[in-house]
Amino acid sequence: MRKHFFSGIQPSGRLHIGNYLGAIKQWIALQDEYEPIFGIVDYHAMTVRYDPAEMRGRVLDAAASYLAAGLEPEKSILMVQSDVPEHTELAWILNCITPMGRLSRIPTFKDKVRQNPDNVNMGLFDYPVLMAADILLYKSEIVPVGEDQVPHLEFTRDVAERFNSAFGEVFAEPAEVLSPGARILGLDGVNKMSKSLDNCLYLDDSDDEISRKLSTAVTDPARKRRTDPGDPTICNIMNLHDVFSTSEEREQCADGCRNATIGCLDCKKILIGHVVETIRPIRERKTDLLARPDDILDILREGAARARPIAQATMAEVRRAVGVTR
Ligand code: TYM
Repeated sequence: MRKHFFSGIQPSGRLHIGNYLGAIKQWIALQDEYEPIFGIVDYHAMTVRYDPAEMRGRVLDAAASYLAAGLEPEKSILMVQSDVPEHTELAWILNCITPMGRLSRIPTFKDKVRQNPDNVNMGLFDYPVLMAADILLYKSEIVPVGEDQVPHLEFTRDVAERFNSAFGEVFAEPAEVLSPGARILGLDGVNKMSKSLDNCLYLDDSDDEISRKLSTAVTDPARKRRTDPGDPTICNIMNLHDVFSTSEEREQCADGCRNATIGCLDCKKILIGHVVETIRPIRERKTDLLARPDDILDILREGAARARPIAQATMAEVRRAVGVTR
């Protein structure tokens, strides 16, 4: 029997190439060896203000992106977090062994407080506990994520260890699995590519949008003219070449940049070609899928039905361990 692991994405906006390169691409590669659970974590997305009327559409959009990118419901379990109530049930139990001081030191909490100063709610504080529950519920030994999630994985190991030493060995301590695209910067070349910043290449951007966005994306800021030599090690376009282009193209662009024989625009044209080739088929499949929302909903319903018994089996163990079975 294939082992399970859980990984997920918040339905808080359209998915971008950071989500794809940091997470989904690894997920696709792991779905033969494991039977993974890929969640659309809607309860996590409730920690910031949102319009309830939009949630259904966002979940469908995320699911269509998963499928269009190459996740196969025959191999993986695609589900929505709120369809399996054991996630929040386990989160409560983990809450009771989590010191508040430990949570307050997690850097993502401090970032979120900075971004949402007028909405510092308990959910935001507790976010990593629900994430630990997502992961531990399926006894994940690995969790493929982007680099920004590493503090959450450290916390998850912590809480698993705390639980096991208090109540007996139930959980595995999961390790993060990072890809070469674990930290994709946005088009500003400074910040992480993020739905909350306007710096993304989306998985459904049109060919024209991809071309326009990359043509104006920040390169080596010190390279002002075509005849100036540049520094490819600080250029975000080169970072993207690292994940999209061949080694010959990378060399051609890096050398050409250093000795000013290639301009930024020519270097970008090579990248644009690859990004368009990657995104176009995903975009086209996604459009087809979104025209059949009932089929997507069936896949999610079936995914929840497959995830539930796995989650229930773990919860039966947890309930026994913490002494709430009679
Ligand atoms: P979220 O929705 O912010 O991002 C989903 C996944 O995409 C990765 N990612 C990136 N990777 C590289 N470069 C980027 N610029 C970039 N932006 C996002 C993230 O690292 C993540 O892997 N807390 C999670 C959701 C979650 C989860 C879980 C993940 C809830 N429960 C359990 C794994 C396991 C989050 O906010 O992801």
